[in-house]
Amino acid sequence: MKTPIISPSFLSADFSNLKKDIEIINNSKADWFHLDIMDGRFVPNISFGFPVVKAIKKYATKPLDVHLMIVEPEKYITEFKNAGADWLTVHYEACTHLHRTIQEIKAAGMKAGVSLNPHTPIHLLEDIISELDLVLLMSVNPGFGGQKFIENTYSKISQLKKLIKSKKSNALIEIDGGVDLSNAKKLLKTGADALVAGSYIFKSEDVIKTIEGLKKL
Ligand code: DX5
Ligand code: ZN
Repeated sequence: MKTPIISPSFLSADFSNLKKDIEIINNSKADWFHLDIMDGRFVPNISFGFPVVKAIKKYATKPLDVHLMIVEPEKYITEFKNAGADWLTVHYEACTHLHRTIQEIKAAGMKAGVSLNPHTPIHLLEDIISELDLVLLMSVNPGFGGQKFIENTYSKISQLKKLIKSKKSNALIEIDGGVDLSNAKKLLKTGADALVAGSYIFKSEDVIKTIEGLKKL
């Protein structure tokens, strides 16, 4: 099994002392910074926007993996690039002209990802998968940290893996929601390349060690 990409979700970070958590992640074995953008429309919660992304970019020494849980994400592609996003992921359910949106993300100089809600089937990606750098499978309903992992995710990973192979796509598979040490190994064995973890990492006593544990699986 190859070493997983670990992307700690800052939704569970300490917003009253962000710099401290940024530095911990810089000094850890984590690979990316996962930033969850929520608009109170696509999901029933509001998180943070451009000023916070820019502030994190200022100190982060690793790529920003930005997950947009917003309606009309195509309106904000340039702004997220300017704020410092390296990977930009939009939701399938939020994009009427997904193909165009993906082209625009790439043209802006970012890696392009698509996320699927737990109820959205894999086969809907058939005609876009060869264009994608990443597919983010939601393993909880988007909107909140600390929810219970949905078991059907394993079957979706297997289907996605097959689709990626059959279309000769280079897309990475990222899993987001309820990830911890109890399911991480099976997720990787089934075919995940990248794991997002929020509460499991930031609520742990030793963040550096917790990340090391995930990297070592
Ligand atoms: C949920 C977000 C996740 C969230 C994961 O809508 O997309 O990135 O922060 O949090 P945990 O790991 O606590 O489930
Ligand atoms: Zn996320």
